[in-house]
Amino acid sequence: MVAAETKICDIDGENGKLIYRGYEIGELTKNYSFEEVAYLLWYGEIGEKHQLQQFNKDWKEYLDLTDTTKTIIDSLPPNMDLMGVIRTTISSLGTIEFNWKPSISQAMYLTAIVPSIIAYHTRRKKGLDYIPPNDCYGHVENFLYMLNGNVPDPAHVSALETYMILTMEHGMNASTFSARVTASTESDIVSAITSAIGTMKGPLHGGAPSGVIDLLNETAKLENIVEYIRTKILNGEKLMGFGHRVYKTHDPRAMALKEKLTKFVGKDEWLDLAMEVEQICIDQLNELKPGRSLYTNVEYYAAAIMKAIDFPPEMFTPTFTASRMVGWTAHVLEQAENNTIYRPQSIYVGK
Ligand code: ACO
Repeated sequence: MVAAETKICDIDGENGKLIYRGYEIGELTKNYSFEEVAYLLWYGEIGEKHQLQQFNKDWKEYLDLTDTTKTIIDSLPPNMDLMGVIRTTISSLGTIEFNWKPSISQAMYLTAIVPSIIAYHTRRKKGLDYIPPNDCYGHVENFLYMLNGNVPDPAHVSALETYMILTMEHGMNASTFSARVTASTESDIVSAITSAIGTMKGPLHGGAPSGVIDLLNETAKLENIVEYIRTKILNGEKLMGFGHRVYKTHDPRAMALKEKLTKFVGKDEWLDLAMEVEQICIDQLNELKPGRSLYTNVEYYAAAIMKAIDFPPEMFTPTFTASRMVGWTAHVLEQAENNTIYRPQSIYVGK
């Protein structure tokens, strides 16, 4: 069902194309940084040099965590999952200044801070000190720097930046819809993004990549992978990293990540296994689920990218969240421009 008109993103599911504000995604990942693509999504055009200078300067102002935010994270239950930590911490930022209407600087603040929340919590759990952001680094470099404390490896930065640009925005998916519904009540941007994070957490949406790792770890031990995959499908199990509501061919993001990976990791046993299992899954899905057009989605190779840069499975959905913050906030801004409250109907089928 059509839920909104949008100028932010166009997805051509039949031909496997993804377009942000008129630009094909491949052009953006090759030529622009995470911040520059965020500028495009929020302002609707590529920034001029002087505009981007100011924009990057403002962005860096927002990266560090306040003492209050650190205290809030410290007080959360130790066994809370990272998505819960992000959701609760973002929710705690909802002060009076965030009241309706949302602004680009609010969007920037919420986007800039997510990697810092992830890094702070991850290091705290390991008993390590917080590493504040470094002004010399861009958003993605800082993410790696704040997590590990080393000068980030340029190949890791490039792989992660590609992933984070590819997953920044994707039209009216479940979490973006959540954000727009909340914003449509004229609630503040913090509440809208908190709704979106809660929606992203589910395994049918943002939680799939760790399922992909499980699938590959299981298949790595097997003699007969084909039989194993067939049994899963015949038992009605969903293969994680396959199928998409919109794409009826290969997800262009999966293809871009696969290309990046083959250049980045070169010859690698694990990547070979991922490609072998991908082909087996597609063949078996086509045979056992004919006419459903089931192909690889972004989550399959996202898992491989994460593994290549040494991100553990619990970081996958949080990293996806860190990039999708841009798309969610762009949609909240667009919703606010010409707002009508969402009020869908249900069909009564009861007694
Ligand atoms: N493995 C096996 N069968 C599948 C898969 C899959 N991954 N995906 C769909 N199918 C089958 C279904 O069993 C169903 O078969 P049936 O007609 O015999 O009942 C048919 O294909 C249609 O499936 P639906 O679930 O109705 O398709 P829908 O468009 O609702 O679901 C979804 C899309 C949720 C992504 C689904 O394909 C899925 O669960 N995939 C696995 C999880 C996953 O990878 N999620 C990440 C998606 S990308 C993202 O959110 C960023």
